[in-house]
Amino acid sequence: MIRTRGLTKDFAGGKGPTVHAVRGLDLDIAPGELVAVLGPNGAGKTTTIRMLTTLIAPTAGTAQVAGSDIAREPGTVRRRIGYVGQGNGAGHSQRALDELVVQGTIYGLDRRDARRRAAELMAQLDLEPLARRKVSDLSGGQRRRLDVALGLVHAPRLLFLDEPSTGLDPHNRANLWEHILRLRERHEMTVVLTTHYLDEADQMAERVVVVDDGRIIADDTAAALKHTLAGDRLVLAAAAPGDAPALAELVARAPGARDVEVDGAEVRARVADAPTALPAVLAEAAARGLAVARAEGHQPTLDDVFLTLTGRSLREEGARPSDAEEVAA
Ligand SMILES: Nc1ncnc2c1ncn2[C@@H]1O[C@H](COP(=O)(O)OP(=O)(O)OP(=O)(O)O)[C@@H](O)[C@H]1O
Ligand SMILES: [Mg+2]
Repeated sequence: MIRTRGLTKDFAGGKGPTVHAVRGLDLDIAPGELVAVLGPNGAGKTTTIRMLTTLIAPTAGTAQVAGSDIAREPGTVRRRIGYVGQGNGAGHSQRALDELVVQGTIYGLDRRDARRRAAELMAQLDLEPLARRKVSDLSGGQRRRLDVALGLVHAPRLLFLDEPSTGLDPHNRANLWEHILRLRERHEMTVVLTTHYLDEADQMAERVVVVDDGRIIADDTAAALKHTLAGDRLVLAAAAPGDAPALAELVARAPGARDVEVDGAEVRARVADAPTALPAVLAEAAARGLAVARAEGHQPTLDDVFLTLTGRSLREEGARPSDAEEVAA
């Protein structure tokens, strides 16, 4: 469905330096995949999507999208894809339903088909009660749902969503996801989206592509990325600091233990599986009379993956606290 080779975008900086927004991207996406693209602000996500949707021309490299070359047949590519941009694309004073009908006619549907299609999408995205409201009067979440409907008017086989859920409350985020997943199932759509919500990418996408500074730095399932790049962690504190080395020895015997560190009374390590390692270590410590003041098992998040890859955190503003399991010892 998508195949890029050496896809590159430089923005000439005027008097300033040239911005290398996308640096030689090689990406293959098969029909039916749901791929989340993650990366910090300025990583090149939107620029990549804008090239793949033919909105801007690459500086170098090639891309086939939905069967056609973006440079040679941009019109064909556009007809086959849907695109929901970052921020609100929908117009202002039009009524929501009319906005959809107009979009349909832009894509070459006759008026009647456009109306039928618009009505269908209004129903699928729970927009029916809002059909006669002005777009400018809709709430952020309602507008985002309308944006998604606009991207789907011509029944594309490939849908690009640039931060579809940014700014939505948790209820509307969940709602939007339900719609996206249902539409995808019904139309066997391929979906490529960007998001800053790591938990969302983790739960919903089958494949996660991590980009940083214009390059792909990881590409796998969320589970595989977390397992190979981050791994589970144990943190234990000995009641008596003098016991920490003995405790560290026990921790080192847990399956897959590595990077065992002692820091004062605290012992930290990576292990294969925190939920089974933690009780085993605690039982052994109790059997040897080593008192443990505190014990935690952490399962990795995609943020830990990014941290391992780059030494920086990707955690979104206001993210939930880490999913540490605290165990009273
Ligand atoms: N039209 C433009 N002219 C000059 N520089 C640009 C232009 N568009 C994007 N850039 C620069 O290219 C880089 C990549 O931007 P891009 O919008 O692709 O990032 P992003 O990954 O989508 O970030 P965000 O998460 O903030 O949306 C940034 O350094 C940005 O400032
Ligand atoms: Mg962006």
